[in-house]
Amino acid sequence: MPLPCTYDIQDTWEANCLRGPHFEGPCPMVPLTPLKSFMGFSVRSRIGISAGLLPNSRWVLPYAERGFDILTYKTVRSVPRPSYPWPNWVFVEETRLPDGVVVATQTPSSDPSQISSSVCFGMPSVAPEEWRRDIRATVSGLSTGQLLIVSVVGTPEAAPSITALADDYAQCAAWAVEAGAPVIEANLSCPNVCSAEGTLYQDPEATRILAQRLRRGIGKTPLLLKIGAFPSDEELRCFLRNVDGIAQGVTLLNGISRPIVRPDGRPVFGEKFKVAGLLGRAIHEPSVATVRAARRWVDADRLDLAVVAVGGVSSNQDFEDFFNSGADGVLCGSSPMYLPNLAIDAKRAHPEW
Ligand SMILES: Cc1cc2nc3c(=O)[nH]c(=O)nc-3n(C[C@H](O)[C@H](O)[C@H](O)COP(=O)(O)O)c2cc1C
Repeated sequence: MPLPCTYDIQDTWEANCLRGPHFEGPCPMVPLTPLKSFMGFSVRSRIGISAGLLPNSRWVLPYAERGFDILTYKTVRSVPRPSYPWPNWVFVEETRLPDGVVVATQTPSSDPSQISSSVCFGMPSVAPEEWRRDIRATVSGLSTGQLLIVSVVGTPEAAPSITALADDYAQCAAWAVEAGAPVIEANLSCPNVCSAEGTLYQDPEATRILAQRLRRGIGKTPLLLKIGAFPSDEELRCFLRNVDGIAQGVTLLNGISRPIVRPDGRPVFGEKFKVAGLLGRAIHEPSVATVRAARRWVDADRLDLAVVAVGGVSSNQDFEDFFNSGADGVLCGSSPMYLPNLAIDAKRAHPEW
């Protein structure tokens, strides 16, 4: 039997945005868990969904109903941008990091917790007028104990220098705050975007300019910075020191860049997109190691930064790995597409999460 998925990978991103998620069967009862604190907000759990699967209120609100309490509105831009050409999301065969090509497959593991996948969307966005209106509707549709984070990115084509790019990020963030976003996440990493906004986090000077301008644009609103893997722990430490006092936390990791090919060896996303973000089971171990390192540096250097974990969570054990490594919150990226009841299962077993 094919794997039931809420996102139809055979269709375009635009069609999926309009259609909303497809769930098999009614929503199971969500356990009513006690309130706890996340970045100063009162939440029913510190479990959520990272930037990606939830492009609008049609997606955010049904997943909120399924017990995910920290919901990230997929990265938006100051200008409309179409998605990269279809296909945008493929399952991949079992793989070992860090080297080598990864092969796409039509038949993912029959055990959904073992699935890895890869995406190549290019951070598409609808026009700001549309997402600003929709964020208002999203915030007002959430329940007590649920929190919306809005992810933003700058667009280099609209902003030729680093200061202009930082202002473009800040403009998006200010619009999101005006629409009611309680927390902003700036995406400084994207494994399939080759222009500046794809790897900003590895440039300390650019990161600082960006964080400062974002701070100016959003006043006191809490700011998270989404990052990818660093070549060394020491570089992660420098990053954290660099943004402490300006941002309130880091979200890590984004997908890990790998060449993704079809079984015949050709790039699955097309010749222009040979490398894309690897997600799911394959990146869980390195993500846990990075979160552990981030927590170590935050504590050792007495930094005032939340550590928000992402990477290959598809079971209660995976949540536990991150919480035991010192994560303040744990988000799922790809797995809620094929495991939409993950938060319910986690809350049943661990109401304290
Ligand atoms: C459909 C999809 C789209 C994504 N788009 C974005 C994005 O726009 N911005 C972003 O910061 N991360 C994006 N991501 C990356 C996720 O937030 C997350 O970092 C990544 O999927 C790793 O987590 P996972 O192993 O749980 O899937 C996307 C992921 C998916 C599945």
